[in-house]
Amino acid sequence: TQPKLFAGKRMLITAGPTHEAIDPVRSITNHSSGKMGYSIAQTAIAMGADVTLVSGPVSLAHPTGARTIQVTSAAEMLAAVEDNLNGQDIFISVAAVADYRPAQASQHKIKKSTASLTITLEANPDILATVAARTDAPFCVGFAAESENLLQYAEEKRRRKHLPLIAANIASEALGQDDSSLVLLDDAGSHPLPQGPKLTLARGLLLHIARMLDQQQAA
Ligand code: C5P
Repeated sequence: TQPKLFAGKRMLITAGPTHEAIDPVRSITNHSSGKMGYSIAQTAIAMGADVTLVSGPVSLAHPTGARTIQVTSAAEMLAAVEDNLNGQDIFISVAAVADYRPAQASQHKIKKSTASLTITLEANPDILATVAARTDAPFCVGFAAESENLLQYAEEKRRRKHLPLIAANIASEALGQDDSSLVLLDDAGSHPLPQGPKLTLARGLLLHIARMLDQQQAA
């Protein structure tokens, strides 16, 4: 049995990709299976947390015991996160949010032709940075999937978004796989979690968060 380290704690987790509509049948998205976020949600529940999971479109079963809210776009994900932020102790942003969306989604299916097609994109809001900037922000944890300069880019992201903790992984290793590896970055430095099942990594990440919260309380 797992120690109920998060008993009485409320945790908000985002997971999966977002889909940004081009027209009724097409969208822009990121590759993301949702497995890491769902593994964290499942493990957090086992550790006693009250979990709200805001999920983009994935083909995974809802974790038993979590309140799951399904969304499609980044705008919907931000709205669901803000609607459920009140009273949260911890926010773990695992979702692979699309950075851009088509400036205008076509109401009807765009007809194909041999001519090239230009779609104008506009930036999506950064959900994690928006939450972390609030004066009443919960303990915020980010993810950084990088294809190169992993630790440098992840640490820059952590500082830019004002996060106490970020989990870095190599994008090509993690995507869609059951196994991955993570490096946790915080003010104390880097803490590697060795290659293993995402459920094991989730447990390592959550134990690290519990230790940081303990230290915060002791300080
Ligand atoms: O800047 P980048 O997208 O690489 O940052 C990744 C982290 O930020 C992840 O934790 C991701 O969930 C979060 N994010 C977000 N909203 C965005 C983009 C990223 O919450 N629009």
